[in-house]
Amino acid sequence: MCCKEKLAVVTGGMGGIGTAVCLRLANEGAKVVATCHPSEADSADAWINEQKSQGAEISVVAGDVSTAEGGATLMNEITEKFGPADILVNCAGITRDSTMKKMTDDQWDAVIDTNLSSAFYVTQPIWNSMVERGFGRIINISSVNGQRGQFGQANYSAAKAGMHGFTMALAYEGAAKGVTVNTVSPGYVETAMTAAMRDDVRDAIVGGIPMRRMGQPEEIAQAVAFLADSESTYVTGANLPVNGGLFIH
Ligand code: CAA
Ligand code: NAP
Repeated sequence: MCCKEKLAVVTGGMGGIGTAVCLRLANEGAKVVATCHPSEADSADAWINEQKSQGAEISVVAGDVSTAEGGATLMNEITEKFGPADILVNCAGITRDSTMKKMTDDQWDAVIDTNLSSAFYVTQPIWNSMVERGFGRIINISSVNGQRGQFGQANYSAAKAGMHGFTMALAYEGAAKGVTVNTVSPGYVETAMTAAMRDDVRDAIVGGIPMRRMGQPEEIAQAVAFLADSESTYVTGANLPVNGGLFIH
């Protein structure tokens, strides 16, 4: 059990990858709090019961991570209710795919706010506590498309590349304080996010994946669990690709 008696917070915890991460960390002995968007709060009970049926007791707190106020309120509520977080997985994210020709300011802003600024809004309120206690594991979920770019994803690729920049800078600040900060960059994974893609576009992409299949959320959770492990003491500032060979560099 890599995360015994640790408190783990997973943003976007009720999503496809988030759910697998929550379950995995709970199975690894962590007390897990999933966060969800306020618009999803009504489905929290059903989700909690589903996880319970798989033997995991996971709590949910709602909050919008795409604004400074939302992130701070969310993290302060979690600290008050459950205590200080030891593990933070920044997993909330959206797509608003469009070619540059058609991309609107709203599509740009929504993706930058939700996928990049959120990492700052959520991490900042708990950072000092991790540093003062001399332990922390922060894992930022980026994307293969932050590493290599993708047609129709200028907003998403910029945000996800920025996320790893955030990881690297913060890794320096946490290195001497017992706080590691790492990125996991998944390839295409079977969740609602990829189900929303046009079938022809998705099929073409999957055809180009050396493993010839999309990833499963549990395969991403495996990488997160490694980085969250209390014994993963010497890995920081890394970007761990989990992409079936889609981008080998
Ligand atoms: N490279 C070069 N040219 C391309 C191209 C590519 N990869 N894809 C399309 N084009 C060309 C098309 O052939 C077409 O050319 P013509 O005008 O000469 O016919 C032109 O660009 C317009 O293409 P579309 O018809 O596809 O444009 P659209 O406006 O209908 O759709 C789009 C745009 C929605 C962005 C679509 O291209 C798309 O879905 N792209 C893939 C985006 C993607 O991978 N999203 C991943 C979502 S999941 C996720 O993000 C998770 C993760 O981290 C991996
Ligand atoms: P998903 O099932 O759509 O999950 C995304 C989660 O983020 C949802 O629960 C969503 O809640 C939440 N969220 C979105 N905006 C939010 C906000 N403003 N505040 C709080 N929560 C918010 O997608 P997924 O595939 O699991 O993606 C999880 C992460 O992995 C994302 O960061 C994504 O970019 C990344 N990723 C995914 C893939 C892939 O192929 N699936 C590949 C690489 C990286 P709502 O449903 O309420 O909006």
